[in-house]
Amino acid sequence: MEAKRYAGEWSVRYIEPGMTIGLGTGSTVFFAIQKIGELAKQGLTVKAVASSDRSEKLARELNIPIVSFSSIDSIDVTIDGADEVDAQCNLIKGGGGAHTREKILAYNSKDFIVIADSSKLVEKLGKFPLPVEIVPFATSLTLQHLKATGCEPHIRQENGQDYITENGNLTVDCQFKEILHPILLDAELRKIPGVVATGLFSYSMVTKVIVGYSSGLVKEINP
Ligand code: A5P
Repeated sequence: MEAKRYAGEWSVRYIEPGMTIGLGTGSTVFFAIQKIGELAKQGLTVKAVASSDRSEKLARELNIPIVSFSSIDSIDVTIDGADEVDAQCNLIKGGGGAHTREKILAYNSKDFIVIADSSKLVEKLGKFPLPVEIVPFATSLTLQHLKATGCEPHIRQENGQDYITENGNLTVDCQFKEILHPILLDAELRKIPGVVATGLFSYSMVTKVIVGYSSGLVKEINP
């Protein structure tokens, strides 16, 4: 947890007064949001758009002003975690089920800053099952097409029931042996009718990855 804290707290140095900030979701971004709350208490004026109810609730508790997705034209910087980061800075995200909104934030941000502890660094993506959000009907047809891309697809469960995203959809965790071409795979998956968004984020969206180590070391990687 400390390594996540180091990365999260480090990231707020890229926030400037007046910025609109995208807030990701997860246990690493928790530390960034807490730090933004401290800065807001000291007088930093920013507004934030959150990728999940969890992050929005935390931000509101810390008196960080929240704006809705529909009220903004652009985002200055989004700070978010990742489940895997490969050697080129391609990402798997969505372990927390919020990757569709996270991707909209990242895509629309001038800067997208990824924060992670060092355990998230991998040579090739794919050990972590790739989350894919799908519409909740025609499930068996959509699953067949997902399987045909070379994975074992599993509909995510929570408390014995299908996990429903904040967008009212299902999440399919797709276990690949190894993802050799993340950008091509993302395009292939997005062609399947019923797929809303995949948890593959191209390195081209990423401004920098901030990696925290349990020793207290923090490293920045620029793709
Ligand atoms: C949320 O949907 C995810 O994309 C998270 O950003 C990702 O799972 C990282 O989470 P942690 O910071 O909790 O490891």
